[in-house]
Amino acid sequence: MTGMDSCIEKVLFDENKISELVKKVGKQISEDYKGKKLLLVSVLKGSILFMADLMRAIEIPCEIDFMVVSSYGSGTRTSGKVRIIKDLGIDIKGYDVILVEDILDSGVTLSTLKQMLESREPASIKICTCFDKPERRIADITADYIGSRVPDEFVVGYGLDYDEKFRNLPYVGVLKRECYCNE
Ligand code: IMP
Ligand code: MG
Repeated sequence: MTGMDSCIEKVLFDENKISELVKKVGKQISEDYKGKKLLLVSVLKGSILFMADLMRAIEIPCEIDFMVVSSYGSGTRTSGKVRIIKDLGIDIKGYDVILVEDILDSGVTLSTLKQMLESREPASIKICTCFDKPERRIADITADYIGSRVPDEFVVGYGLDYDEKFRNLPYVGVLKRECYCNE
């Protein structure tokens, strides 16, 4: 057992399960975006692994770009504020944009980001999230593509962090309370 594994209470998605859900979403997007000017926008850092796998599961031409936003600081609850740390490198006007996220929780981050990007006149803009926690939603937003729902628990791995750690776990698991309660 490594140091990271000992902080995991239970594994929710192992590598095989993750690969299945990514393929399912990649197939849907490949069908829906045939002939379109598809741009995948990865919202860093959490979506790095999902983005890397998803783009390989998409069988039609697409472009990619990245944004860095921050909403959490180092805690486990949203601050309700979104800060753009790195903006897109290209003008998205006329593109069919898909925002690629790691997890949709309160939805505050993505609804703010979506509004901001809509003003740049993309042809369309949709949301693809690897994981969805619908019980926690505050903002009026739903994802168009969802890998899987997750229970209302704090999960880490496959890009998801707690205090910037655990992103490199190849699976997704629930973090033990004792590993974040003493913050
Ligand atoms: P929202 O604005 O509350 O939807 O925040 C979404 C962001 O919060 C995600 O992109 C993650 O970075 C982070 N987040 C929300 N829930 C979790 C979780 O269970 N584990 C790790 N990060 C999370
Ligand atoms: Mg985070």
